[in-house]
Amino acid sequence: MADEQDILFTPVRMGRIVLQNRIAMAPMTRHRAGVDFVPQEISATYYAQRASAALIITEASQVSRTGAGYPRTPGVYNDVQVEGWRRIVDAVHQRGARILLQLWHAGRISHAANQPDGVLPVAPSALRPEGEIITASGMRAYPTPRALETHEIAGVVEEFRHGAQMALKAGFDGVELHAANGYLLDQFLRDGANQRTDEYGGSIENRQRMLLMTIEAVAQVWGAERVGVHISPLVNVHGIWDSNPAATFSALAERLRPMGLAYLHVFERNISVSHKSEPMDFAPIRKAYGGFYIANGGYDADRARAAIACGHADLVSFGTMFISNPDLPARMRLGAPLAAADTATYYQGEERGYTDYPFLDGGK
Ligand SMILES: Cc1cc2nc3c(=O)[nH]c(=O)nc-3n(C[C@H](O)[C@H](O)[C@H](O)COP(=O)(O)O)c2cc1C
Repeated sequence: MADEQDILFTPVRMGRIVLQNRIAMAPMTRHRAGVDFVPQEISATYYAQRASAALIITEASQVSRTGAGYPRTPGVYNDVQVEGWRRIVDAVHQRGARILLQLWHAGRISHAANQPDGVLPVAPSALRPEGEIITASGMRAYPTPRALETHEIAGVVEEFRHGAQMALKAGFDGVELHAANGYLLDQFLRDGANQRTDEYGGSIENRQRMLLMTIEAVAQVWGAERVGVHISPLVNVHGIWDSNPAATFSALAERLRPMGLAYLHVFERNISVSHKSEPMDFAPIRKAYGGFYIANGGYDADRARAAIACGHADLVSFGTMFISNPDLPARMRLGAPLAAADTATYYQGEERGYTDYPFLDGGK
């Protein structure tokens, strides 16, 4: 297929940003930050290697110390972290890609051992996720989190605002809110984790409130057209689930529609670890949102081309394939073979399984 006919390599405008192709790198936690939650130089190499994607969305970055779920994930709440991020942003910009920071609060997906002063993690409701979490002293059962008091919620929103301000200082092109995969914003959205009886729980409208307040705060820093949102309606991991994902997320997409956001980024797979969801068609969500849509989850080059050609997606993001193929766009363009990712080094291994995957042409 000649390049000019390959829809994956056509430019597209996303808000104020012009992207050179339709390929994004999906956000992926890799646990390579320092023990003080500071992004390291090695991550500048990692992201720069993958900067032939038009857009990189970074791994989730906690907006406060209490927002941390795990050891060695990068924060974005102090100046040393901002300096670390700035090196990453500069390295990516030098190679011509755009880079957004994913803002994160893990909520109940944490442990007293991962919290400052050994306090309990916070959540919408005191509901313990099943399973175990990694801590500095090995795998431990999740604790029952502490439910946030109504008056505390505005403070968490302020943490997101602060994170957004720090991201601006670091030179990013925008931010994405992590409202997927069972972390705090997702915990508020889905009724399997949110059983509050105040204005943040119960009805779909109430469960959206935390996310909407956060979007508003972050958009005051960046402008809505530089803010995206990642959701995962059928990803039931980390104990999260919803009794009616189609209703919950179609309503959310409709609510986000007039807000003028950069995009809605949807992890479309059905991953039933903690709870089974019926299959769901994502076309209604795409339709309800109406704006710039990033499709994600299990796409390959041909499915991505088809999704763009039929108008389902404006951009497609790739996760695991980008771990093991730093030059994924070139491979897709050529139809070259893809290397398989080593799952054992997703969350450990320093440069192994991180910056040592080869390029087709021997580049770096
Ligand atoms: C190692 C790993 C870490 C991930 N970390 C994050 C994360 O920090 N934030 C997020 O929104 N999604 C995260 N995800 C989900 C990916 O962004 C993406 O939704 C998922 O991998 C599906 O896309 P794929 O099928 O192309 O891999 C992670 C996925 C993997 C494999």
